[in-house]
Amino acid sequence: MARSSLKVLVTGAAGQIGYAIVPMIAKGVMLGPDQPVILHLLDIEPAAEALNGVKMELIDAAFPLLKGVIATTDPIEACMGVNIAVMVGGFPRKEGMERKDVMSKNVSIYKAQASALEKHAAEDCKVLVIANPANTNALILKEFAPSIPEKNITCLTRLDHNRALGLISESLDVQVSDVKNVIIWGNHSSTQYPDVNHATVRTSSGEKPVRELVSDDKWLNAEFITTVQQRGTAIIKARKLSSALSAASAACDHIRDWVLGTPEGTWVSMGVYSDGSYGIQPGLVYSFPVTCEKGKWSIVQGLKIDEFSRSKMDATAKELVEEKSLAYSCLN
Ligand code: NAD
Ligand code: LMR
Repeated sequence: MARSSLKVLVTGAAGQIGYAIVPMIAKGVMLGPDQPVILHLLDIEPAAEALNGVKMELIDAAFPLLKGVIATTDPIEACMGVNIAVMVGGFPRKEGMERKDVMSKNVSIYKAQASALEKHAAEDCKVLVIANPANTNALILKEFAPSIPEKNITCLTRLDHNRALGLISESLDVQVSDVKNVIIWGNHSSTQYPDVNHATVRTSSGEKPVRELVSDDKWLNAEFITTVQQRGTAIIKARKLSSALSAASAACDHIRDWVLGTPEGTWVSMGVYSDGSYGIQPGLVYSFPVTCEKGKWSIVQGLKIDEFSRSKMDATAKELVEEKSLAYSCLN
């Protein structure tokens, strides 16, 4: 029997990430090669013509899995019945801007869109927030959409996770697909803590810890961390625009693993509502290592945390506490 279509909302769909992600979704990169989709594309009035152009291109691409496209500037029409919501809409950071500069504009958008999603999305809609400040926007969305289960609201740190995998694979000259179980703890910002203490590489003589293969501890404890933390800024400096194709690809990875499950023995990083694991206070959306099964994520438990990691995990949590209070002050 033919599968029924899943409705996928992309907000900010006329923007850069939107333009990169919609063909990926329509080709099955996000939900699998057998899953038909209907795309709901939302943007604001000044971008309506460009949004219509995206819709025209999607039709022209004749994607077999794409069963319909709604392009609209009405949040209610956009949210109606959606199963997956990819929240990209907002103001991007430009060169010279701090993430906090975009806070006041973006948190008000997330407060407003929370109620449209709460009222009109499908009951078990899974939400991924990409627009920055991603963790805090997700938290605001959660707090202003109290009837959406908190487990259904997440933010994107998979891009940072993939950056860490890429950097280790480059430095060891191994395939990126042989590296696994890095962790991004905390905020999608320059305080995030990319942790390789539990990461491994598949070699011809079995799985080896990254810390055994990379003999230069100094590199792992300093330059590796700052390179991952600063990668978004480096891309803005190089492109004069923030990352788009890698962000779109990471968003597909995030949703695919959440819906279809993580491979055995592998975890990924997701920004999720803290349940107090690893001493991170509830009330924050914080990036943890998670495994996914049957459409649900769970935080990987029992990892040993040394003193170095502890201080970095706490520093990024502290920034999230500050961002949360700044967000509320912007909303008042
Ligand atoms: P962009 O400016 O190209 O696109 C943003 C789109 O959002 C625009 O088309 C704009 O019209 C639209 N928009 C603005 N307000 C809206 C609203 N209220 N409702 C719906 N749409 C609205 O930006 P981009 O490069 O696509 O980046 C989007 C966001 O993603 C930015 O906040 C950026 O900082 C963030 N980002 C996050 C990550 C991550 O890993 N979490 C990575 C890259 C970029
Ligand atoms: C990224 O990590 O590439 C972006 O979040 C950078 C930014 O601030 O838009």
